[in-house]
Amino acid sequence: MEKIAVLDSGGQYCHLIARKVRELGVYAEILPIEASPARLRAYKGVIISGGPSSVFDEDSPQARPGLYRISKPILGICYGHQLMAQAMKGVVEQGKTQEFGRADIRVRSAEPLFRGLPKKQRVWMSHGDHVAQPPAGFQVLADTPGCSVAAMGDLQRNYYGFQFHPEVVHTKFGSEILKNFVVGVCGCRQDWHPEDRVEQLIARIRKDAHGRRVLFFMSGGVDSTVAYALTVRALGTETVHGIYVDTGFMREGETEQIEAAFQKLGLGHLQTFKAAGQFFKGLQGVTDPEQKRAIIGQAFVDIQDEIVEREEHTGHDWLLGQGTIYPDTIESGGKGQAAVIKTHHNRVQRIQELIAEGRILEPLAEFYKDEVRVLGRALGLPKALVDRHPFPGPALAIRCICSALAEKPEADEEIDALARRSGYRAFLLPLRSVGVQGDSRSYAKLTVLWGGELDYKKLLPLATEITNRYRRTNRIVALIGRKRIQPGEWKIRRATLTRPRVKLLQAADHIVTDFLRSEGLYGKIWQAPVVLLPFSRGGGETVALRPITSVDGMTAEVARLNPQRVLELAARISKLEGVDAVMYDLSHKPPSTIEWE
Ligand code: XMP
Repeated sequence: MEKIAVLDSGGQYCHLIARKVRELGVYAEILPIEASPARLRAYKGVIISGGPSSVFDEDSPQARPGLYRISKPILGICYGHQLMAQAMKGVVEQGKTQEFGRADIRVRSAEPLFRGLPKKQRVWMSHGDHVAQPPAGFQVLADTPGCSVAAMGDLQRNYYGFQFHPEVVHTKFGSEILKNFVVGVCGCRQDWHPEDRVEQLIARIRKDAHGRRVLFFMSGGVDSTVAYALTVRALGTETVHGIYVDTGFMREGETEQIEAAFQKLGLGHLQTFKAAGQFFKGLQGVTDPEQKRAIIGQAFVDIQDEIVEREEHTGHDWLLGQGTIYPDTIESGGKGQAAVIKTHHNRVQRIQELIAEGRILEPLAEFYKDEVRVLGRALGLPKALVDRHPFPGPALAIRCICSALAEKPEADEEIDALARRSGYRAFLLPLRSVGVQGDSRSYAKLTVLWGGELDYKKLLPLATEITNRYRRTNRIVALIGRKRIQPGEWKIRRATLTRPRVKLLQAADHIVTDFLRSEGLYGKIWQAPVVLLPFSRGGGETVALRPITSVDGMTAEVARLNPQRVLELAARISKLEGVDAVMYDLSHKPPSTIEWE
């Protein structure tokens, strides 16, 4: 198979690049930046990704010097562009100011990467350092008023560098530019399509299983269902044993729906293992998100071990199946340079050990979510199942925010002054949630905006400005359906994961899903997590809505649902006993993450 290597310089840009290349019908794989030249020979071309480091940092990610001797086309993007310029003795300068956002490049030489494209085009820049002078043999292919080497190329050796990011949606002709590289320069055929891979995947599962039984732990989500269906197709229902662990954190009615769907699809017997008691017990008194994730991950493993022992699958005659997909293997710091933002439950210590022992079967570990959906359709799974929104393994547990302390809202004059300029008021809530800023994890306070309408035109730029300016907050929400909160009367109370809280969250989540389906919005957005916060006037809760659009979950934008309809939705949620307020999350990813924990 003809393929492109994307060298990972850290951060998440490498996924966007690989996905964009795959969309062109060319298979792309992410490799560590220090991949050996020998390994890279198997690829038709190499793209070096952007990343959060500066080439002037002592421990910045470095490619092997031999990279430039493999006689393959190479494209460096942002950090990759600077790395290439530095390696070939061009001049890279440390930026005094950062350039971030949209820019218009002027194409000075269209061949070969801007072939067929306008002379002036909109791109997305995000960098501190820049290439001041291209290396010998390179010419400037495009510039902007603020960036004299926005694109450079050595057309003899087929080395190219872009200061801008062709992989992000804001670069208007990003796909065309990448196509000019992977097809035009590297000569790849555009013949890779996930649906054609079904037979190959089946053959691989047979080979990897090597006569062993597979215990497949299902979450009921798209990934594990498609992975399981593929494994059943490969090995038959006799050999594959589906186990569904009901953690107590599933959505309302979900366990029953999953059981019914499996029966209907003839996917063999799905054994439900009710473990809510065990999960709640393990999480008693715990409030820290990573600790919650670790405990949930460990509980899954303990239950798996228990089931394995109980069923006497002793020795090495069994494998553990999981629906892990490509980004899961990298976001947890599983490979390459990416920082640990959140530890996914399928990458905890014990699973890593099983991986090392060759006892894990992950048929979808090379695929992105949208590709998994294509595979699911090719396998004949029903649309309602394949198009379901992603749902995290730790489920509602990470949407039920806990607090170790009883705390009060905090006045913040600077943020409030900024909010006032747009006609709102603001205060800080010392309830923290996870974010991803500059490719590292943040865990910071929440800003609450109140006092105005749900006007996205005003609120979204305001939210961006607040998180750009102040690191003490990483997530901005607006109060909806209620004009104000009397800060003296409202409090954060100490709260952990309890059954009544999860039950309330299930009810709110059910209302939201219902609303999205009846409004025809379900298929139009990527996800709409509903989050419970122990913030209230009495002992109740606040419900936060987090509808977002995304192509792969790696980055996300706030979905602008009709404000009038959102008000009606908030009114329905407010009728639930114990709900004191409803809020709308106004934070893109980055700087926030999709899930709050
Ligand atoms: P974040 O919150 O990191 O989420 O922006 C990105 C996507 O990943 C999903 N997610 C998970 N999926 N196990 C999963 O299988 C997990 O532990 C997990 N945590 C987050 C999240 O719902 C979103 O689609």
